[in-house]
Amino acid sequence: MAFSGGFIGGVVSYDRPPARKDIFIPKLNQLSPNSPEQVHISVVGADKMRITWITETSAPSIVEYGTSPGHYPTSATGTSSSYKYLAVYRSGEIHDVVIGPLNPNTVYYYRCSSDSIREFSLKTPPAHLPIKFAIVGDLGQTGWTNTTLDHIGKSNYDMLLLPGDLSYADFVQPLWDSFGRLVEPLASQRPWMVTQGNHEVEKIPVVHSTPFTAYNARWRMPYEESNSGSNLYYSFDVAGVHVIMLGSYTDFDSDSDQFKWLQADLGKINRGKTPWVIVIIHAPWYNTNTAHQGEAESEDMKKYMEGLLYEARVDAVFAGHVHAYERFSRVFDGKADNCGPVHITIGDGGNREGLATKYEDPTPEISKFKEASFGHGQLEVLNETHALWTWHRNDDDVNVVGDSVWFTNLSSDPACKKS
Ligand SMILES: [Fe+2]
Repeated sequence: MAFSGGFIGGVVSYDRPPARKDIFIPKLNQLSPNSPEQVHISVVGADKMRITWITETSAPSIVEYGTSPGHYPTSATGTSSSYKYLAVYRSGEIHDVVIGPLNPNTVYYYRCSSDSIREFSLKTPPAHLPIKFAIVGDLGQTGWTNTTLDHIGKSNYDMLLLPGDLSYADFVQPLWDSFGRLVEPLASQRPWMVTQGNHEVEKIPVVHSTPFTAYNARWRMPYEESNSGSNLYYSFDVAGVHVIMLGSYTDFDSDSDQFKWLQADLGKINRGKTPWVIVIIHAPWYNTNTAHQGEAESEDMKKYMEGLLYEARVDAVFAGHVHAYERFSRVFDGKADNCGPVHITIGDGGNREGLATKYEDPTPEISKFKEASFGHGQLEVLNETHALWTWHRNDDDVNVVGDSVWFTNLSSDPACKKS
């Protein structure tokens, strides 16, 4: 059996909540122009962490850190950059410093740019299972986003995985700054590993022809460490999980760099070290919602890459883009297949565009649970063989488990052993 269990808690029909308005988070009043803000962290290799923050004016790219509050015996320096967008916007200094080696599962206290006012703390991921991921896409920055972040913040998660569409700045660059401030309380404490969605492209013909300017400058991920040539796709190991972040909005055909990189990356996985393999994309390959049907980023990417993931016995694929929750059976080539990945759409973070509420009728057999509500998911990988996936509906600001299912690891399933 590919996975067992069922959903906990009956789903009753109720009026779908409407979208909530954007919240703009201004810079804190007490901060000086060279104070750090918009702090977020991401893992680099097995025992290092990248600290990213922004100052309005120039400030040293230094992180001082230690394991007790107020004591920073170790320091590391990095680099800073800024970018221009159209004639009207110039970003602050975006600082990027890698600290470590760090001990696993350990709280560190740190400060940025030697600022004496703001002390931050982070917890490194565990070296071994269990590990708990929070997974949510299409976050935006609305009242619903706030609720989602509140629930995630209380979940005692180790790492957040974001399948694209972060700020919904949509060309208005100060909204990237606002988003950085909104997520800082969480993203400065636990690694946030992200991939891009369509809202990150921000390309305007002639006047700003370079895509992903803000995203690449602000959300640099550890791509070089997995031999990727692009910030738009990369992979990493954490505890016993190999996580692959793919790019739906860059080339993915069989001649593309991404395809070749994915092939090589899958070939290097050691299931003895990382029994679990999960993939994060933006545009879902399986979707029974009427929103976003027939898009090349879904259909063509699936056509080129699904076979690679199937042959590698990837355990699960998480996507965003459709603003709703949907869980499929293990599937390959459109049909239920016990050796294929479970596909899950978790694009319900809370952005201003609202929910996608219409579904195909009748529901195809491979779609096991679907609901157009805001929320987030948690993947608790407990050991080498079992992981628990739960979907948490925001449900009028109360954290409710709406769907729950056990995954069993594919690499330990004798029926799915490769010949
Ligand atoms: Fe999207």
